[in-house]
Amino acid sequence: MRLNRRGLLFGTAGAAAASLAACGKGEESKQLTGHTGIAMPTTVSDRWVIEGADLEKRLQDLGYKTILEYGEDDVPTQIQQIQSMIDAGVEFLIIGAIGNTSLGEVLSDAKNKGVTIISYDRLILETPDVDYYASFDNYQVGVLQAKHIISRLGLSQDSTETFNIELFSGSLDDNNSQYFFQGGMDTLEPFIYSGQIVIPSNETEQEPTSTQQWDPKLARERMARLLDDFYKDEPLHAVLSPYDGISRGIVEALVAADFEPGSDDFPVITGQDAEARSLKAIKEGTGQSETVFKDTRNLAEVAVNMVKAIVGGSTPEVNDNGTYDNGFKFIPSFLLEPVDVTAENYQEIVVDSGYITEEEIDNAPADEG
Ligand code: GAL
Repeated sequence: MRLNRRGLLFGTAGAAAASLAACGKGEESKQLTGHTGIAMPTTVSDRWVIEGADLEKRLQDLGYKTILEYGEDDVPTQIQQIQSMIDAGVEFLIIGAIGNTSLGEVLSDAKNKGVTIISYDRLILETPDVDYYASFDNYQVGVLQAKHIISRLGLSQDSTETFNIELFSGSLDDNNSQYFFQGGMDTLEPFIYSGQIVIPSNETEQEPTSTQQWDPKLARERMARLLDDFYKDEPLHAVLSPYDGISRGIVEALVAADFEPGSDDFPVITGQDAEARSLKAIKEGTGQSETVFKDTRNLAEVAVNMVKAIVGGSTPEVNDNGTYDNGFKFIPSFLLEPVDVTAENYQEIVVDSGYITEEEIDNAPADEG
């Protein structure tokens, strides 16, 4: 019988299953409202703002109740927000975590109350209570960024030129950071070993290259320091940056040090998230030359489909069961494909697909504002 099988499969008997067990079969749809708490990490980055609203709308269109909160990069705030959602009786939690190892206790309470927990884009670690993970192929994000650098610098096995590169990585408390960095480093590695890529700072590990809370200001400060220490007389050819906000911080430091965007001396800079301000720089040639687009409309749809499936009494669709180990188990995941975006294809990928308008790109403020 469906109920028993689900209980066995997940061992956790989510709220859906709990209320199903409490009512007769015919009453299923009346009992299962899909009441969902959406805990997002920050409003500083455009993507989470767009996604919070998108998730809410999609869930409400299905007739479900929602609570949406932003933790503003503060772990205790997010824990408290999740606790209030549990107290308000949500049956599902969709969480874009701030601290990936900080949610164990509150999620244990959620699980005791039968809540189904979906880790949204960022995997929550060190808890047995995560049910599903909706994200992208995060390793591939780093691969695309590194490939952009390789192609823009014209690197190949046979090329003889040497290039100076610096590396940036994301927040250490975000599980995605290591995947982005690893994808980038594995792709650059043959050229580092061959000596075609040199990293003058010698900061090549995740920790020294990291950017706590993905903060553009910290990236700007680190880039300014690197320029001071290593690039007084040396050219800088490229910067591996994992995220648009960090990329803009890097550009600010370069501009402050008199590098001219668009000139031959300006380094190749990567990014991620297709934020309006970064797309503007890509389009106009005034900063980073690449971003990795993760179509967050599809991610929201994946997460909502997970809720919908459970409410409807079936098992959510996943396409990966063996990549994302959260320290307790491999989390059943649905992973989407990221896409490389440059001046050449931004129109097709982000404008024609309706993600953003040309006007929004043109009107985006030039700086962090
Ligand atoms: C990561 C996410 C990136 C970027 C970053 C900063 O977890 O995968 O796409 O949004 O956070 O917000």
